Amino acid sequence: MIDAMNRQWVLRRRPEGTLRDEDFELRSVPVPVPGPGESLIRVHWLGIDPTQRGWLNEGDNYMDAVPLGEVMRGGGVGQVVLSNDPDCPVGSWVAGMVGWQDYVVRSAGGLFGLNVVPEGVSPKSMMSLFGAPGLTAYFGMRDIGRPEPGQTVLVSAAAGVTGSIAGQIAKVLGCKVIGVAGGPEKCSWITEQAGLDAAIDYKNDDIDACLTRLAPEGVDVFFDGVGGSILEHGLAHLARGARVVLAGAISSGYQGADPASGPRNYMRLALDRARMEGFIFLDYLDRFPEAFVALRDWHAQGAITIAETVSSGLESAPSALRAVFEGRNLGKQLVEIAG
Ligand SMILES: NC(=O)c1ccc[n+]([C@@H]2O[C@H](COP(=O)([O-])OP(=O)(O)OC[C@H]3O[C@@H](n4cnc5c(N)ncnc54)[C@H](OP(=O)(O)O)[C@@H]3O)[C@@H](O)[C@H]2O)c1
Repeated sequence: MIDAMNRQWVLRRRPEGTLRDEDFELRSVPVPVPGPGESLIRVHWLGIDPTQRGWLNEGDNYMDAVPLGEVMRGGGVGQVVLSNDPDCPVGSWVAGMVGWQDYVVRSAGGLFGLNVVPEGVSPKSMMSLFGAPGLTAYFGMRDIGRPEPGQTVLVSAAAGVTGSIAGQIAKVLGCKVIGVAGGPEKCSWITEQAGLDAAIDYKNDDIDACLTRLAPEGVDVFFDGVGGSILEHGLAHLARGARVVLAGAISSGYQGADPASGPRNYMRLALDRARMEGFIFLDYLDRFPEAFVALRDWHAQGAITIAETVSSGLESAPSALRAVFEGRNLGKQLVEIAG
């Protein structure tokens, strides 16, 4: 038994528009006691994903909405502090859906359960390289983008965690890679740290002029996590037979309201004999082991660099979720809740 309180962010109301702290309530309850076969986890890090904003909306999604009055759903990592499970001894690191709280009881593994972090793997990387971002980048780029050596690849949100991994995978596969991000600092990181060939600052550059110069033969693969006007710019520069990987549409804010119309120039797909395909990384569950091996090896060879932005304290979780929509993060947005 732990003589402390468990702070939790509970969903108080469905947000309208931009997320506010008041959409949640920070409450304190006693730390739960693990039952037979269970273990108690002290959560150390939360991983923030844009899709979490979408989980707050009612309506059709790939996962049920977080119920009102429940702890906010979210991935993270933590360490076992009490254990009644020999497979999960005290001191082990576990990763999975911990929720926005200090402590959680682990009952079982499985896809959305809490799984022990394998020996030699950094716990934090379970939220980036070996989590949804890395898996999305891997399957989106390899299976849907299918770039060939020498082809030109365009990646949006390229200084974010998914885009940066996707761009670096395309580099490993021998492509010329152009990243799009907001601001000179992120663009420098894209070329100097992530090693992409060029970066377009969509807040300051003339995107069309840049794409005409950087991709004179057109873009063969466009990995898009943004949508909106950036998607339209990419569609305007496709090569014949291009593949557009629809990973996400963060420019919508995932606010659940009626989406804006567009892309206005989708006929480019017909004129360029191109294909646009959406997916959710969970579609590839049976191939996760293949992705883990490839991502691990590329990272070990220094071909994949991951940036992190850390926000401090459980209190900051709602603000950290807003940050990914406001572009305040470089790489993976994390919340550190225990040192
Ligand atoms: N399909 C799947 O299974 C799957 C899985 C994981 C993630 N995703 C999607 O992949 C995308 C990236 O997710 P992530 O976790 O890697 O987040 P992230 O890229 O680390 O962070 C999001 C970045 O998006 C950019 N952004 C936000 N609003 C924008 C706007 N209006 N216009 C242009 N850029 C904007 C911001 O960078 P700037 O400063 O450059 O604007 C921000 O830093 C999201 O759409 C997410 O939903 C899909």
